[in-house]
Amino acid sequence: MNKELLIQKSIEALELSYSPYSHFRVGAAILLKDGNIIQGANIENASYGLTMCAERNTVFRTILSGYKTEDMVALALCADADEVPYPCGACRQVLSELFPLDAPIYVHNTRGKILETTVKELLPYIFNKENMD
Ligand code: THU
Repeated sequence: MNKELLIQKSIEALELSYSPYSHFRVGAAILLKDGNIIQGANIENASYGLTMCAERNTVFRTILSGYKTEDMVALALCADADEVPYPCGACRQVLSELFPLDAPIYVHNTRGKILETTVKELLPYIFNKENMD
């Protein structure tokens, strides 16, 4: 897996961020088994609650590009800030349904800090389809 390339693509994705309210740019990139990389970023709105985070936009964009969860290999998430952008609760829930639970998630920042995690680690005791059987 080309981790360095994925990290680089998530840094480039910062340019896609529309964040005039928080000025907190987040870029994301998902690596696929076929080698393609899908980029995304946070998109804000004057009605603040309608803002969509980078990781949700990116996983939705990946699905809308015709890929399935099992096609996804890794996710990189970059913030232009001193701290790394851990996914919010809503994103953890969405990722738990659409992104592989054990696949690496690299959360990092433009200062070079990189941490590796997984959905399983970020969201223990997941509520999903199996809970409704
Ligand atoms: N944000 C993300 O895009 N992903 C995260 O992991 C954390 C927060 C965005 C939402 C909003 O546009 C801005 O960061 C400030 O919360």
